Amino acid sequence: MELDYCIKDRRSVRTFKEESVPKEKIESILEAGIWAATGMNRQPWRFIVIEDKNVIKFISDETKKAVREAMPAIGKRFETNEDVICYNAPMLILICTEVDKNFGNLNLRDSVLAAQNMFLKAHELGLGTCYMGWIDLLNQNRPEILKKAGIPDGYEMQVSLILGYPKNKPGSGKRNKANVLKWVK
Ligand SMILES: Cc1cc2nc3c(=O)[nH]c(=O)nc-3n(C[C@H](O)[C@H](O)[C@H](O)COP(=O)(O)O)c2cc1C
Repeated sequence: MELDYCIKDRRSVRTFKEESVPKEKIESILEAGIWAATGMNRQPWRFIVIEDKNVIKFISDETKKAVREAMPAIGKRFETNEDVICYNAPMLILICTEVDKNFGNLNLRDSVLAAQNMFLKAHELGLGTCYMGWIDLLNQNRPEILKKAGIPDGYEMQVSLILGYPKNKPGSGKRNKANVLKWVK
């Protein structure tokens, strides 16, 4: 797939087929992640790949609770049995790093760059992804829940994303024109 097309055609996917993702595809998506730019070439990313539906549901349910607790004004939206967090995706990937207070910011930035590479690679392979921002809230407020879901001691989650075969092709997306505040020559 041509790069410019891949960048512009990728959309966040929120409806998935039941079909699981073949291991080789997962591996090539992780491989795309680790080729991201990385501060001081530290390559801090470690991946937790979750295919167990019960674990994904556990994280979704706990995230709904965390959002209701932290943001009562919008929490009503999360009073449902539907999976409005992970959208019944067959796979959730947690990008983690070692806990390191000296490099906390760098670890987050590196992980976000890895995620964008992974989004694009997944799209090239006909897969859909979505950044899981609500899980960040669970991570901030109840990190022990993610430990229960498999994050080992000494590691913390930086970014999470869902992955699977899209059920429907999302719309074509829209962006405002690049807003150049200043062009200093
Ligand atoms: C930091 C971040 C957090 C996000 N969190 C969520 C989320 O929790 N749930 C969700 O459905 N989409 C989430 N998204 C996806 C955005 O809603 C989506 O990228 C945006 O609407 C633009 O659409 P596109 O990705 O299809 O271009 C998140 C995206 C980013 C970058």
